[in-house]
Amino acid sequence: MYTLKYKGKTHQRCPETHPSLSLTDWNLHLLSGSVNMTSGTANANGECLGWAARDPSGILSPYKFSRRAVGSDDVSLDIAYCGVCYADVAWTRNKMGHSKYPLVPGHEIVGIVKEVGSNVQHFKVGDYVGVGTYVNSCRECQYCDDGLEVHCSKGAVLTFDGIDVDGTITKGGYSSYIVVHERYCFRIPKSYPPELAAPLLCAGITVYTPMIRHNMNQPGKSFGVIGLGGLGHLAVKFGKAFGLKVTVFSTSVSKREEALTLLGADNFVVSTDEHQMKALCNSFDFILDTASGDISFDLYLSLLKTAGVLVLVGFPSEVKFSPGSLNLGAKTISGSVTGGTKQTQEMLDFCASNKIYPNIEVIPIQYANDALERMIKKDVKYRFVIDIANSLE
Ligand SMILES: NC(=O)c1ccc[n+]([C@@H]2O[C@H](COP(=O)([O-])OP(=O)(O)OC[C@H]3O[C@@H](n4cnc5c(N)ncnc54)[C@H](OP(=O)(O)O)[C@@H]3O)[C@@H](O)[C@H]2O)c1
Ligand SMILES: [Zn+2]
Ligand SMILES: [Zn+2]
Repeated sequence: MYTLKYKGKTHQRCPETHPSLSLTDWNLHLLSGSVNMTSGTANANGECLGWAARDPSGILSPYKFSRRAVGSDDVSLDIAYCGVCYADVAWTRNKMGHSKYPLVPGHEIVGIVKEVGSNVQHFKVGDYVGVGTYVNSCRECQYCDDGLEVHCSKGAVLTFDGIDVDGTITKGGYSSYIVVHERYCFRIPKSYPPELAAPLLCAGITVYTPMIRHNMNQPGKSFGVIGLGGLGHLAVKFGKAFGLKVTVFSTSVSKREEALTLLGADNFVVSTDEHQMKALCNSFDFILDTASGDISFDLYLSLLKTAGVLVLVGFPSEVKFSPGSLNLGAKTISGSVTGGTKQTQEMLDFCASNKIYPNIEVIPIQYANDALERMIKKDVKYRFVIDIANSLE
C-alpha cells in the first residue's frame, strides 16, 4: 500500500492490484557493437506540446516544438508521468551556465509506447516504458559496451538540453511525447505503478549505483544520508532494503517524524546541531551526500570510521576539505552520476521485487513552477511527479 497525494487529496493505492498492461519478459541485452547513431528525420509541424523555460528566470510556460520522426530503432512514447528533479531547477535557471533556451526539462519519464520502429525488439505498442537522464551515446566505446552509457567516452546525450547526433537540442519530459532509441528505454516491471516508477529513472538510479559500487549493501553496516529530498528518501529506502542502519542528516527538523516512521530510518540528526553531529564521530561506514546545497566535508569525513567512504551525488558549489580529514583514517571520497542502462533495469526490477516505492506528490503541469519553487525551499515530500497525460493540453 502506498499513499498518493493529488490535488490536495490523499489516496491509498495498492501496487499489487494496480492495473498494468501486460509486458513480455525479456533479458536486457546490450546492443554492443552498433555504431548506428542515425536518427529519424525531424517532423517540422511542431506537434509536440511541452512546457519550457525561456530564460534564466526559469519560469515555465506552454511551448510547441517538433520531435524527430520515429527511426527504425526508435520508440515513441506518449508521456504519462514525469518526475521533478532538482536538475530541473538548476537547468531552467541556468545554474550550470550552459542552458539553451527554450528549455523543456524533465528526465524521469514514464510513458506508453504508441509507435515502434521496424528494428525495435524489446518494446511493443501499449507497454509502459521509462526514460531517464540520457537518450543517446556512441554505442561503440568500452563504457557503452559495458552498459555504462552514462560514461560514454564521446559523452552521453542528456535527455534535455543535450545536443543530439543530428544537431538538435534535446527536450525533456515536461511534454506530450518523446522519441527515443530503444537502448535508452527501460521496461517498467509488471504491476509497478507507473507514476511511482518515474522518480526511479533519475533519483533511484543515482543513489542505487554508488551504493552498489561501494558495497553499501552489506547488512548491519552504518549508512548516513545527507539531505532528505527525492534522492535522499530513496537512499533511505535502499539502505533499509540492504539491511543497513540508516541515519538521515537533514537541515529540516520538520522531516524528523516521517523519516523515522514513514521512511523507516533508524536515526535522524539535524545537521546544524553541532552537539549531535560530534557525538557521531567515527561511526559511519558510508555516507551519501544527496543535498542540493553545500555541506562541510571536514565534518562529514570526521563521522566516517577508518576506511569509510563518502560519496557525492549532489553538486555542491565546491568540494573543499583538509587533507588530514581524508588521510587520517584512510578515508575515501568519491562521486557518481545516475547509472548505465544495465544497472537502471536491474534497479527497477529490484524495486519491484523488494516493494520499494518512492513517496510522491502527483501534480498537474500547471503546478510545475510552484513545485520548482518548493524544491528550492526544501519543501518536498519527497518527489513531485507531473501527471502529464491528464493535465497537459
Ligand atoms: N549525480 C547525479 O547524477 C544527480 C542526479 C540527480 C540529482 N543530482 C543532484 O542531487 C542533489 C539532490 O537532488 P534532488 O532531486 O534529490 O533534490 P531535492 O529533492 O530538492 O532534495 C534536496 C535536499 O537537499 C537538502 N538541502 C537543500 N539545500 C541544502 C543546503 N543548503 N544545505 C544542506 N542541505 C540542503 C534538503 O534536504 P533537508 O531538508 O533534509 O536538509 C533538500 O530537500 C541536487 O544537487 C541535484 O542536482 C545529482
Ligand atoms: Zn535528475
Ligand atoms: Zn560510448
